[in-house]
Amino acid sequence: MDLVFATNNKHKLEEIQQLIGVKINLKSLSDINCSDEIPEDFFTLEENASQKANYIFNKYNMDCFADDTGLEIEALKGDPGVLSARYAGESKDSEANMKKVLEKLKGEKNRNARFRTVISLIIDKKEYFFEGIVNGEILEGKTGKDGFGYDPIFMPTGYSESFAEMSIDEKNLISHRAIATKKLVGFLLNL
Ligand code: IMP
Repeated sequence: MDLVFATNNKHKLEEIQQLIGVKINLKSLSDINCSDEIPEDFFTLEENASQKANYIFNKYNMDCFADDTGLEIEALKGDPGVLSARYAGESKDSEANMKKVLEKLKGEKNRNARFRTVISLIIDKKEYFFEGIVNGEILEGKTGKDGFGYDPIFMPTGYSESFAEMSIDEKNLISHRAIATKKLVGFLLNL
């Protein structure tokens, strides 16, 4: 079965292909020759994921899914949330985003945070949603070199290393995207 994943993020494709196995032939946006800037105009993860999946479905008429993820920090009332990619500006610079988070949390004792992923799947013209959450805390500084985004400053609950210190396999066992994707895969394999 062919399924389009509305992304060109290589990290995410790799993570999800590993989880999804060989039964499903995952295609990226570049595999379907889509170089459009897909709109993300809304203020919730659910609406943005849905907008992206519907965009691909309407244009290419292919089964597809899209995800949207946010880092939700308790002391910042859920920020950066849906604005995680561009928290420090339109350049979507992870270093600048982490710096902004660390500055805002300077002296803050409540470091609780979570990553939340929402997936919108459109299959046989019906839409389904899947959610994955991983709780953790924001570290005082960056540690680790792997991963992407906010990985160097996020330590999941029950672990003593940041996401950026974990291997992709370790992260895949527990991450927000892994949890949402496992729900998606379970659904697809039961069709
Ligand atoms: P997206 O909706 O998946 O593109 O995620 C939005 C932003 O959240 C990304 O640009 C990253 O900054 C951040 N993000 C998403 N997933 C992760 C992750 O697994 N680790 C660290 N940061 C992430």
